[in-house]
Amino acid sequence: MLVVGTGKGYGKTILFGEHFVVYGLEGIPCALGQITTAEVKKVFGEKGYELIDNRPATRGYKEEKNGEYTALISRILEFMQVKSKVQITLSGNLFAASGMGASAACAVAIARAINEEFNMNWNDEQINKAAFEGETAGSGTPSGIDNTVATYGGFLLFKKNLTGGTNKTEVIKIKKPIEIVLANSGKTALTKEVVGDVKKLKEADPKKVEKIFKEYESLEQEAIVALKNYDLKKLGELMDKNHKLLQEITVSCKELDELVTISKTAGAFGAKLTGTGRGGMMIALTPGKELQETVAKAIEKAGYAATKTQIG
Ligand code: MEV
Repeated sequence: MLVVGTGKGYGKTILFGEHFVVYGLEGIPCALGQITTAEVKKVFGEKGYELIDNRPATRGYKEEKNGEYTALISRILEFMQVKSKVQITLSGNLFAASGMGASAACAVAIARAINEEFNMNWNDEQINKAAFEGETAGSGTPSGIDNTVATYGGFLLFKKNLTGGTNKTEVIKIKKPIEIVLANSGKTALTKEVVGDVKKLKEADPKKVEKIFKEYESLEQEAIVALKNYDLKKLGELMDKNHKLLQEITVSCKELDELVTISKTAGAFGAKLTGTGRGGMMIALTPGKELQETVAKAIEKAGYAATKTQIG
């Protein structure tokens, strides 16, 4: 029997906090039911890897992200001190598009599969660290939000420790799952570039950006209360406000703004870009199957792909 190591990583959506989390502000990410799986097996040859990528993906995603993935996988192999050549096969039902946490899900799945193939006995914290190393090599200065959700799953409060210590992660419990619609802008953005542009903006106009950060912090505090009270109308309003702040830090784009408008017009409680922005995904809060269906249909009618799923 041929033995291979296997592993999985969760896709994610960010309800609040993309980009702001990079600067140590608190974010609210959430795992999706969709996962990436990896199989790793030793093959003949010295070091390095062969990749078979069977994941469903947005057109152009794999080509555009090729450099990021090469750096990500190489770093994980190095970090986990893999001395043999391996064949890595990626699959699963997580659609690879920017904004879905696809690279983090992939990093976690690969680290878990290596762990199994080489009987390393690493725990979740070590797997999370390996995935973070991969994400850092692939996309510059990640906050760690994506790999953390990809490792642990669930609905979380996340805060990066800017002094290098352990990040804060807390599980958020909500009364019952909430229907959402994720829409794909069809464009792929490079996280490294977009995060880099926010950094430049902050350096060029620190006062303006600090003011936006303050507004974000107070809306995120309100969002926690709204979530705990299951006040979904309020939560939606806060998502709308969060999208405006993301526009102000220049990480939205024409397609994402259009998707937000379509969702809101169709009755979504709130809508915003999710993840890196400048492409990738939009999330609309659509409690109840009926509203979810209406919003998804409106998005599809405009020519975009929509996914109906739940959070929490
Ligand atoms: C990407 O999913 C989220 C960003 O905030 C980057 C990060 O936190 O590493 C844009």
